[in-house]
Amino acid sequence: MSKKIIIDTDPGIDDAMAILLALKSPEIELVGLTTIFGNVYTPLATQNALRLVEFAGRPDIPVAHGAEAPLITPLEAVADFVHGRDGLGNVNLPPPQGQPIAKAAAQFMVETVMAQPGEITLVPIGPLTNLALALALEPRLADHVAEVVVMGGAVTVNGNVNPAAEANIINDPHAADRVFTAGWPVTMVGLDVTLQTIMSDDYMAALNASGSPTAEFIYAISRFYRDFHYDTHGLAGMHTHDPSAIAYVLDPTLFTTVRGPVRVATEGIAAGQTLLDRFQNWRDSNPWTGQPAVNVCLEVDSERLLALYQQRICQL
Ligand code: RIB
Ligand code: CA
Repeated sequence: MSKKIIIDTDPGIDDAMAILLALKSPEIELVGLTTIFGNVYTPLATQNALRLVEFAGRPDIPVAHGAEAPLITPLEAVADFVHGRDGLGNVNLPPPQGQPIAKAAAQFMVETVMAQPGEITLVPIGPLTNLALALALEPRLADHVAEVVVMGGAVTVNGNVNPAAEANIINDPHAADRVFTAGWPVTMVGLDVTLQTIMSDDYMAALNASGSPTAEFIYAISRFYRDFHYDTHGLAGMHTHDPSAIAYVLDPTLFTTVRGPVRVATEGIAAGQTLLDRFQNWRDSNPWTGQPAVNVCLEVDSERLLALYQQRICQL
């Protein structure tokens, strides 16, 4: 039986790469996209989500417009220097034909999950505001999701916005802390693993040469993202952030995980840092005490993940 998922997304080049992986995988039924700010502002995220389902020939998949600002901290900027002004590598895609549904992202999540208890996996690959709002709307959501697979955070490596924080978490640290402590089955697919998997120039050239229109589209939109990696990290390739979350949904055995409560620093110079308590053996009470354990991915079989991605994206 396929896994039903909702992807909460800020497309975003690697978001597009993740969404197309989901759409090319028979083990996954994509029941909706919900949108959020991050790589772009939310209105453009919604337009891009519509563009992606239309490109994939799946305009039937509902797109729900999400929150336009974090719960508490102001939204300072978006990552156009990483993803391009249009969020999809400045390739000038035509406007979408369709419209978002007349329901906010959080409401869509609540209604979809509550109508099919235990069946829906939420896969947030942007800031976690919509999930926090959905929990506030319907606290029983935590008991009714199948799983929550978060791309975000870093526990054994530095952040990618600053030494403390990863982008999706720093963009709404209060929402992230609520999501990690809500008592639902969360898996964190963070920089610990996403930095380990590199889509090299050779790998991308092979994708592009495969003759698959999806692979050619991914190659075209990802040139801007690749150049960001080269200019910033001297990397002739790209880190594999959002597709890793979908890879986890497809095959959790690609990853090695540990368990423990994760809290998020919400203020100060380390705001947005995700902190895992692996040992839980403190004698005195602290902010982790009594919080639910989540799964945190620490290692990944990158070779197998890249082979899976290539196989799915290149199939005609
Ligand atoms: O830190 C990587 C994450 O930030 C990815 O989700 C990327 O799309 C950006 O949102
Ligand atoms: Ca993203």
